[in-house]
Amino acid sequence: MPSFVFILITVPVICQKMSLKKIFLLLVVICTVSLLLHKRDYLTWYKESFHVDCPVRLNSPPCQKPKHTNIVFLKTHKTASTTMQNLLFRFGELNNLTVALPIQACGHQFCYPRSFNTQFVHPHTLPANVITNHMRFNKTALQHLMPNDTIYITILREPVSMFESLFTYYSRHCESFRRVPNGSLEVFLNRPYNYYRPLEYDSSYAHNCLTFDLGGDKDWPANDVSYAQAFAAELDQVFSLVMISEYFDESLVLLRHLLSWNLEDILYVKLNMRTEDSKKSVAPDLLAKIRAWNSIDSYLYEYFNATLWRKLSEFGLVHVEREVQLLRDAQERLMKTCFGREEPLFRSTGEIKRKDLRPWKPNEKVDIVGYDLPSNISREAQKLCLKYIMPEISYTEALLRSQSLRHSQSKRKSSQKPSVPQPPTHTLQPRHSHVSHNQQPASPAKGHSSVTGPKSILNPKSIPKQVVITKSKPKSSHTKA
Ligand SMILES: *[C@@H]1O[C@H](CO)[C@@H](O)[C@H](O)[C@H]1NC(C)=O
Ligand SMILES: *[C@@H]1O[C@H](CO)[C@@H](O)[C@H](O)[C@H]1NC(C)=O
Ligand SMILES: *[C@@H]1O[C@H](CO)[C@@H](O)[C@H](O)[C@H]1NC(C)=O
Ligand SMILES: *[C@@H]1O[C@H](CO)[C@@H](O)[C@H](O)[C@H]1NC(C)=O
Ligand SMILES: *[C@@H]1O[C@H](CO)[C@@H](O)[C@H](O)[C@H]1NC(C)=O
Ligand SMILES: *[C@@H]1O[C@H](CO)[C@@H](O)[C@H](O)[C@H]1NC(C)=O
Repeated sequence: MPSFVFILITVPVICQKMSLKKIFLLLVVICTVSLLLHKRDYLTWYKESFHVDCPVRLNSPPCQKPKHTNIVFLKTHKTASTTMQNLLFRFGELNNLTVALPIQACGHQFCYPRSFNTQFVHPHTLPANVITNHMRFNKTALQHLMPNDTIYITILREPVSMFESLFTYYSRHCESFRRVPNGSLEVFLNRPYNYYRPLEYDSSYAHNCLTFDLGGDKDWPANDVSYAQAFAAELDQVFSLVMISEYFDESLVLLRHLLSWNLEDILYVKLNMRTEDSKKSVAPDLLAKIRAWNSIDSYLYEYFNATLWRKLSEFGLVHVEREVQLLRDAQERLMKTCFGREEPLFRSTGEIKRKDLRPWKPNEKVDIVGYDLPSNISREAQKLCLKYIMPEISYTEALLRSQSLRHSQSKRKSSQKPSVPQPPTHTLQPRHSHVSHNQQPASPAKGHSSVTGPKSILNPKSIPKQVVITKSKPKSSHTKA
């Protein structure tokens, strides 16, 4: 503290010549100046990490754009997509958006593995801004459902670790894996067609799972590379961003800029991971076999990993690195707020006290990491942190309840004013006022009504106060930068 040292040195010298009143005034001045200096550091840090204006990127588009809110996130299996889903759920809630959710008959997925169909969507969750629960991708059907300025995003994972994960996770649920003696991955890979039945309803987990989730043909002959090439090119046209699990934070930086979001919008706590004990290392001689068996997935992965790194380079690797660091620092503060420490308290499913915080456990051999909140954090923190750690199924149910409630409230409101002419379906959805520019009905019959221009999101005052960031002290690395 330089000002403190300054006081120590100067005060005794001056004291001999000044009255007490003057000394007091001098101290007040010194304190104020010192406070202002620190406050300035604090404010610079705040502005930088929240991107109220968009200073990081050279040639950046004018960042007075509203946040983009119409999003399809195609949730692939075992790819950190649950963490992304949680992030989108929270974003949807915070911005009063509508998240399309499955009807009860579909479970918490859109009747996967059937191809997506608009009839799988719960009517209380329409018209939709965001859709993210598991589905098998069908672009045509989604285009009918979503506004035409919807941005499509998905995530891929390296095929070897992904297949090991699928094999362990679904060892009891997927018939192709259940047939394998001793649950041995090696035995399966030596003769996959002894165990794999392409037409079984759950066969998608066992062969080119990414390709299947994305709507492709998982059983296209591996020697015809042109199929994978054409499929990759097609996906490249549809998806504005294909994230890569291995570079999750880097992918989030691109996502944030693509959607004009703030740093706080991409904060997360990792969800639906297996405990370390439940992971198996893959023997080196199996790597090539896994890739050969999942050859279309492997092609997609290489193609989109290259695409991601090209985008990162275009963005500027230095900028990416800096933003990743800002994200991780903010993450650390979030952990301190939620768990009172830098790392969350990992709990295996059985150890979690609150039932709704226990993640789904696929079989007795696999343990999934979840979290409990410590009871000694503030009520405000409890409320904030709860959503970060809420497992997929609990959150889907909670979101359906709150949106159904809002749906019936807005319906009651509109029926109280019979003089106002009503669109045929989905009457008056006030929450659409926050949708960014150009939102138009996907089809006129659907009646995406009430489109207004960008408003309060641009106003920094409307950024919700974050317990995490504003209450904790900025780290010195920020103030120096
Ligand atoms: C969402 O709705 C609530 C309650 O109607 C309101 O207080 C809040 O400001 C809204 N948030 C945004 C981002 O529009
Ligand atoms: C995708 O959806 C469209 C429109 O709903 C439908 O016509 C088509 O059959 C679907 N595709 C598949 C593979 O089910
Ligand atoms: C959406 O569709 C409307 C017409 O229905 C069109 O005017 C508008 O440009 C379209 N927006 C985008 C982003 O394609
Ligand atoms: C399964 O495990 C048992 C005991 O470890 C072993 O004797 C048997 O050969 C294994 N079977 C196969 C098909 O690997
Ligand atoms: C992804 O691409 C980058 C850049 O080419 C490369 O360095 C990296 O090894 C690739 N990652 C994987 C897991 O293949
Ligand atoms: C809550 O209590 C634990 C010990 O039980 C302690 O380690 C942690 O720092 C406390 N958290 C807060 C926010 O006080």
